Amino acid sequence: MAHRIAVIAGDGIGPEVVAQALRVLDVMRCDRGVDVELWELPLGAELFLKNGTTFPLELRDEVKRTCAAVLLGAVGDPRVPSGEHAHDILLGMRGAWDLYANVRPVRALTDALVPLRGKAKGDVDMVIFRENTEGQYVGAGSERGRGAPDEIAMSREVHTRRGVERLLRAAFDFARLHQRPLLMTDKSNAIQAQGIWRRVLEELRREYPDVKTEQLYVDALAARLIQSPERHGVIAANNLFGDILADLCAALAGGLGLAPSANLHPAQPGHIGLFEPVHGSAPDLAGRGLANPLGTVRSLGLLLEHLGYPEEAQRIERTSAEVLRLGRCTTDVGGSLSTEAATSAFLEVLAHH
Ligand code: NAD
Ligand code: IPM
Ligand code: MN
Repeated sequence: MAHRIAVIAGDGIGPEVVAQALRVLDVMRCDRGVDVELWELPLGAELFLKNGTTFPLELRDEVKRTCAAVLLGAVGDPRVPSGEHAHDILLGMRGAWDLYANVRPVRALTDALVPLRGKAKGDVDMVIFRENTEGQYVGAGSERGRGAPDEIAMSREVHTRRGVERLLRAAFDFARLHQRPLLMTDKSNAIQAQGIWRRVLEELRREYPDVKTEQLYVDALAARLIQSPERHGVIAANNLFGDILADLCAALAGGLGLAPSANLHPAQPGHIGLFEPVHGSAPDLAGRGLANPLGTVRSLGLLLEHLGYPEEAQRIERTSAEVLRLGRCTTDVGGSLSTEAATSAFLEVLAHH
């Protein structure tokens, strides 16, 4: 039976890059027997501005019930400064479906795109496991006296044992499977509530004696990622730190235009997954044909792997590396092609891989 995939193109460059990923998917459906059925949902700023709709709960439940995965472009629009719709759509899916692991692989595909002196593509190859349901994203906060001299804005961060443990377990399992070192990062020297990350890491370490583990405060990690990216295999982090590190690491591998991600519930095989590029809606690029489609195309690769098509996922990775090597890509990664032309080049090269 065909897997059903919901598609949310979203805002800004979202629709442009998703359209390109769907071209790639179309080829895989025709030539490679990838059996999927698409359901396009017109959610985003446009709909919100029209009638206030963000992501109706019944619709979200229906997607969860009937779909194997969601492919998302990006949400966020300058006309909605509160980010209300983006919050409901993106954080809504992550939270309501308990997609507790935001897996963000960072693999440089060509030497030329690694911005660090003396480093090559083999030096940038890590996977970030970002906790995706708690931390500073729980929305427990308040503002008092907006604009007043004594204004105060407060926000809590929440880390539960269950939440920390399951994320670390997913990271440990991945590290074990791929024989990579695991690094957990936190800021427990300044933020007491993050001490739980160290304690749970210590406990789990005993269950995974074969996995080399390490802890580093996030400030020190930021420096070390630039100086010695090759020392990192798997990085586990809380929600906020994982968000920031994902963009930093994306830059080490050639930029946000290339970075893919998967939002998963790894404890349960077959659970719905949400796949999206790491980048946002890039309003500065929207409508100009400049957006790099590869971050979304590679996210489609992760989606196909999730559905049980690992070979198609690998083909997407190989083809991405090849178009970059040939310079048949968009301007952010050294090429001169438009979003659409870069995808046409991708499809040509894909035919040989
Ligand atoms: P952004 O990721 O949209 O853009 C940051 C920089 O990267 C910009 O210079 C942009 O031009 C560049 N960039 C991004 N995607 C690119 C691509 N495919 N090709 C080439 N260059 C690309 O981050 P931002 O500007 O901070 O955020 C813009 C909006 O997107 C905000 O509303 C933000 O909240 C939202 N956002 C959404 C998501 C998501 O939906 N998953 C993720 C991040 C940001
Ligand atoms: C991401 C984005 C989101 C996040 C924003 C848009 C809420 O930056 O997916 O990385 O912070 O998780
Ligand atoms: Mn982010």
